[in-house]
Amino acid sequence: MNANADKNPFYALKLAQKQISILDDQLLRRKLLHTETPCDTHPIVQGRQLNAFCSNDYLGLANHPQLINSLAEGAKKYGAGSGASHLISGHSVVHDLLEKKLAQFQSKHIPDVRALFFCTGYLANLTAITGLAALNTSGGVSIYSAALNHASLIDGTRLAAAQTKANTHIFDHNNLSQLKHNLQSDPAELKIIAIDGVFSMDGDIAPIKDLLAIAKEYDALLIVDDAHGFGVLGEQGHGLLEMLNVHSSRIIYIGTLGKAAGISGAFICANEFFIEWLVQKGRPYIYSTASPPAIAHALIASLNLIEGEDGKNRRRQLHKLITLWQDEMVFSSWGKISSSMPIQPVILGSNATALEAAKLLDEAGYWIPAIRPPTVPVGSSRLRITFSANHSVDDVQKLMDTLKRVEHQIIGI
Ligand SMILES: Cc1ncc(COP(=O)(O)O)c(C=O)c1O
Repeated sequence: MNANADKNPFYALKLAQKQISILDDQLLRRKLLHTETPCDTHPIVQGRQLNAFCSNDYLGLANHPQLINSLAEGAKKYGAGSGASHLISGHSVVHDLLEKKLAQFQSKHIPDVRALFFCTGYLANLTAITGLAALNTSGGVSIYSAALNHASLIDGTRLAAAQTKANTHIFDHNNLSQLKHNLQSDPAELKIIAIDGVFSMDGDIAPIKDLLAIAKEYDALLIVDDAHGFGVLGEQGHGLLEMLNVHSSRIIYIGTLGKAAGISGAFICANEFFIEWLVQKGRPYIYSTASPPAIAHALIASLNLIEGEDGKNRRRQLHKLITLWQDEMVFSSWGKISSSMPIQPVILGSNATALEAAKLLDEAGYWIPAIRPPTVPVGSSRLRITFSANHSVDDVQKLMDTLKRVEHQIIGI
């Protein structure tokens, strides 16, 4: 065989090269950077120590000594890997314990609640939407998905449409009258509304109480993806449902565990019959190797921290930083979204401006990547600034000074 045969560009390879050069031309090519130290507020990134304001480690637990110990302890007790999917032989007693604890967190909000643990939030969202849509195989399913939903809810909706012929409807951001209007004339027997509890790129909170009232009026299920609220919202950090004090069997609550909980994974909490159905029919759940039991062991420690004094103090610190930013960050011309969450976007518009701002910040020792389409709508490229409880007031004050300087450099004043 000619060893050089595959070196000549063939069709697929030429296509990949061309597509990547198009991304370069559009200023949409993304770059992988590697960290050399644990996730924290001042990591070493490719040899330089930076001030990071970009992780989702809101409570600063990713490098918490108790969780590191717990992960090591879990590995000693349960080994390195799970060995199989949950329904074959990968479901450990500690997965079960974690699920019980997660269910307890939502027990005041979802009657007869049961939790199901997943390797990632992406997988949980795919499973929730496709699995629930599969409850009705006669084609009478409609999924209503909010326009600014996370990619995993969007992809779950697309997959459900392909697998079950569900009709899909995208409703504009917070446009509940549009949602109601479409539901009114919808003959589908099974209706599912899916929404981010906290919008990941804007930091605003979805109107869950109003959505729940609509779900009741039109006999729909309400999927709430609280990836960014779990651990952060509510007195005990149980998330958005706790903060709003809502309860309903119609709610399918999804939380992720790689953000405020500091480790990795995700879960769905819902009425026990919905969860049992997902165990039976949720393809992304069924056909994935279970997450290592050691992760579940460490997550139980994380949940204890979240609802205990340590978690409360961390939420207080976060709140202090958010208030400081809201009160004192004033740009000359850039837009700031009013968010009560640790996600604080600065909308810059073009890809070029967002990249320029990120570059100047990098030169000043800050790690805040430019967020561009398709993660955000075209024309709304931005800096997505995120706070962690491990940031100090001084860190945020210095960030604000640097941002003002960068703004002036870019707009030329
Ligand atoms: C709103 C939202 N849902 C789901 C996910 C996916 O979670 P995971 O990273 O655990 O796959 C993310 C982020 O990653 C998110 O921001």
